[in-house]
Amino acid sequence: MHNETISSVEQLSYLLDETDGAITILANASAYLNDFLPQINWVGFYLLEQGELRLGPFQGKPACTRIAIGKGVCGAAMAENRTQRVDDVHAFPGHIACDSASNSELVVVLREQNGAPFGVRDSDSPLQSRFSEEDARNMERVAEIISAKIHHTARRLSKDLEE
Ligand code: SME
Repeated sequence: MHNETISSVEQLSYLLDETDGAITILANASAYLNDFLPQINWVGFYLLEQGELRLGPFQGKPACTRIAIGKGVCGAAMAENRTQRVDDVHAFPGHIACDSASNSELVVVLREQNGAPFGVRDSDSPLQSRFSEEDARNMERVAEIISAKIHHTARRLSKDLEE
């Protein structure tokens, strides 16, 4: 019922510009996802920084700023380097409640080109079981698109610094 369509997902490729910086890319990605995902109350990014996840661009209520690797749904996604699709967050051991309205959650991993995780894309819903397996696959594709844009940005920035 709430499935994200492939065409909406692929639109992200056209919206995001790899000549922009990472914050710009993630800010517009969170705005776009917030616009096209129905029945969500939070969507955004946490990025690996100094051995923990730090809050990045997002849409929704203010959220916790730091998450240890292995803690909560986001920390589990990073530690295991795989998607976490949680039908009932209250049943997830160690779930970190940023918004008491959240009942289900989908976290997918942003990866470097060598496969190492460098952050996560998180979405929360007030509905139980909001996210289907198909939603998970589509959000993994979203994470690939965003990660690819950021790979280009990183190369461009380091090249710029050398010049
Ligand atoms: N629920 C997440 C924390 C981040 S917020 O949902 C925005 C978790 O358990 O990792």
